[in-house]
Formats: sequence, structure tokens, C-alpha cells
Amino acid sequence: MKLFSKETYQHRRNRLKSDMESGLLLFVGNTEAPFNYPDNTYSFRQDSTFLYLFGIDRPDIAGIIDIDNNTEMLFGNDATMDDIIWMGPQPTLREQAEMVGVTSVQPMDKLDIAVQQAMARGQKVHFVPPYRAETVIRIAALTGIRPAEVAASASRRLIDAMIALRSVKEPCEIDELEQHMAVGYAMHTVAMTMAQDGATEREIRARLEAISLAGGGAVSFPTICSIHGETLHNHHYRNTLRTGDLLLVDAGSESPLHYATDHTRTTPVGGTFSTRQREIYQIVLDANNVACQASRPGVFYRDVHFAAARTIAQGLKDLGLMKGDVDEAVRAGAHALFFPHGIGHMLGLDVHDMENYNDTLVGYDAEIERSSQFGLAALRLGRRLKPGFVVTDEPGIYFIPALIDKWKSEKLFADFICYDKVDAYRDFGGIRLEDDLLITHDGARILGSRIPIEPDEVETTVREI
Ligand code: GLY
Ligand code: MN
Repeated sequence: MKLFSKETYQHRRNRLKSDMESGLLLFVGNTEAPFNYPDNTYSFRQDSTFLYLFGIDRPDIAGIIDIDNNTEMLFGNDATMDDIIWMGPQPTLREQAEMVGVTSVQPMDKLDIAVQQAMARGQKVHFVPPYRAETVIRIAALTGIRPAEVAASASRRLIDAMIALRSVKEPCEIDELEQHMAVGYAMHTVAMTMAQDGATEREIRARLEAISLAGGGAVSFPTICSIHGETLHNHHYRNTLRTGDLLLVDAGSESPLHYATDHTRTTPVGGTFSTRQREIYQIVLDANNVACQASRPGVFYRDVHFAAARTIAQGLKDLGLMKGDVDEAVRAGAHALFFPHGIGHMLGLDVHDMENYNDTLVGYDAEIERSSQFGLAALRLGRRLKPGFVVTDEPGIYFIPALIDKWKSEKLFADFICYDKVDAYRDFGGIRLEDDLLITHDGARILGSRIPIEPDEVETTVREI
């Protein structure tokens, strides 16, 4: 089991303790999740909050931090002889706990008593919103809250404290992320070399996932590998690539400590962009570069989003697909026909970091409210950037026939969109280009070596087989 230093986990818990004034903090780790019968399970993934505070990557453990009595305790059962026969020798929970600086360890059945005693003493029990049914049921049983009310009973105070802690990445986290970027690089450059006439989406996906596994971890989210890049999260792999298609690959890998990479590249199958593809590609690349240059501490990520959106609107206007005043078009949300998502999100232990807490609480705060405007509403991170944030920069341009038809029939933003010209692009597909950025003290830098992104270098990479 790979871990950060013991002091890293102790320091995180101490910071959390000083943030929370009182109460009992309850952290329920994940259990195994069966996919068709109890002993046949998905690969185990520990809960990210648990990993952040306690590091221990095994099922069926829980932790409490008692703020009022300044104690920390881990709960779990050691392997039985049967477990050892089937799964091999296992470290004891006490051995693992020592590695993360926890000295008090109890069998799992003592957790019920600890929580009940705390409640009897009048301590508030704080927990973050559970996202798995097993955890909902466990928290319900521990606290007496009805399962249907568990999520709504999560502690806003603990959520805020965890978001504050995890938003700013520590040097050891940045090192872990940065080291693992090489796996993301390999995944995407191999996908480019495989973008040849006759290749199938599913064989490319299989290679990407093999590279991720060989690099130490599973993929960080279901791989998107599609010649239909206009479908933003396309999880089908049924197509055969043909020269002239655009292959959009949005894929990432989890590091051994479960930190996520998340990159997107769009590649011309066969290695040559058509003029039309290159024109749209260059606008997306310009938007990606503008967003990276605009990202620095103190800037609202929503303004970075707007800078990218203006670049897209201006580029589409230059091609005759949009018209009118670019700033007005972006303010009105007309560009969202082509760019219906946000410029990016936080990245860390989760690919959309901390979204189990609540994506609006992660991405917005008292200074900035989430918009309900189509397109802008999908911006997951709008608040001011700080040094140590890790975010994605992922603009895109898509031609989504159903959306084009709907807006055209409603004459939506007819002052800004040249629908007659847009119709000629109905079969274009989509382009997205995504890098992972670290916000530094005076700007932003791309984590890891930049995966080929200039159109010429992408073409060269495809031809390098
Ligand atoms: N890479 C998938 C996403 O950001 O939604
Ligand atoms: Mn992303």
C-alpha cells in the first residue's frame, strides 16, 4: 500500500480539527461492490475523503475524529484465516493505522457504540454526503437518521472544511499528480498513433485502459473514445474509424495513490486534418491557450471560461458561423450552441474533485453564484483561483444536430448564429482539447509534458507508426 508520509495525514487531520469547533466527525470507508454476485466484485475503490484523511486503501473500515475529546480512532476487523487462505496474508489494521499516525484501533462493532455514546453525550455527528447505498444504510444504522434523510443530514460545516482543505493541493499531491501525467501522455499519444483507417474504437479504448493499469491504476472515469465527439460523454465504442473522421479521446488514469489525470485530444484519422477540421481545431486550441494564459490567482474561473467562450465566438464569427457583437453573444449565451459545457473543473483524488460533496459548493462560494443560463450552468468551477488549485482547461466546439435543429426551429439567438452556414457542419462531430493546470503563485502551468496539441504535431504523431 503506497502512502504519503505519516505526518501528511496527521497534518491534514489536525487542520481539520482546528477548522471544526466541536462534534464527532464520522468517516465511513467504502465496501466492496459486487457486480453479479457477492464474491465477484468491481475493483475496490476507497472513498476519497477517507483516503485524504486516513490513506488506508482497503474495504470495510471507518474512522472517527472526536473534536471535543481530541481523539482519533480507526475501526475494522483483521483478516480471518479464511480471508488469508483466499486473499493471502494481510497487514493488521493496527499496522496500517500506525503508518498514518493513528494509534487507537477497534473492531468494527465498536463503531456503533462509539457513535451512540457520542450522541448520548450530546455531540453532533458530522459526516459528508454518502454516494453509495451501503454507506447511506451504514450511517442510517449508526445515527438513527432515516436512510432517505441521510444525504440531507450531511454536515455543511464539514463539507466546507473538507473543500477548503482539499482545494489547495499540497506539494506531495502535486508530485503524485505530476508523476502520473506521464501515463496520461502515453495513453493519448498511443491513441493518436492508433487513429488509422480500419481501427476500432474499442481496440483503442482497450489499449488506453491497459496503459492506465500498467501505470499503477484504473482509469479515472469511463473512457470517451469516439468518432462522435459531439456527444460530450460518449461511452459507446462500436464504430470503426475511417480516414477523415475525427477521433475524440477524453481519458485519464488514477495514480497509485488515486490522483486523477484527465486529458482530451482530438485526432484526424489517417493523420491529415481537412481544411474545415483544421479551422475549427485551431479555434479550440486558441481557446485552450487563452484560458491557460488567463488563469492565475485571484481570477474568477468563470472569467477564464468567458475568455475561452469569446475566443470561440470570435473564431466562429470569422468563419461565418456566428455574427454580431462577440461580447454580447457570449453574455447572452449564444456560443453555447457550440460550447455547451464549462471550461473546466477541479482535479485531485476525484476526476471532478470533491463532487460527492456537492459540485456547486466546490465550484462557487459567497462571492460568486452559479448561473442557470444554458451552457454557463454546466461550468463546475466559477470561483477565484488560488495557488495550489489543480484544474482542467477543456474548451470544445461541437455540432450537435438535435440541438442545432431545436435552436433553429425556435430561432434562438438568430442575431448571433448563422444557421444556414451551421447546417453545412451538421456532420462535423466535435473537438475538445483538455490539459491539466496547476495554479502557481503568479499564473498557471500545464502539469506534465504537454501532450501533442499543435495541429502539425498531432498529424506527425498519427503518422509515426
Ligand atoms: N473528462 C470527463 C469530464 O471532465 O467530464
Ligand atoms: Mn475534464
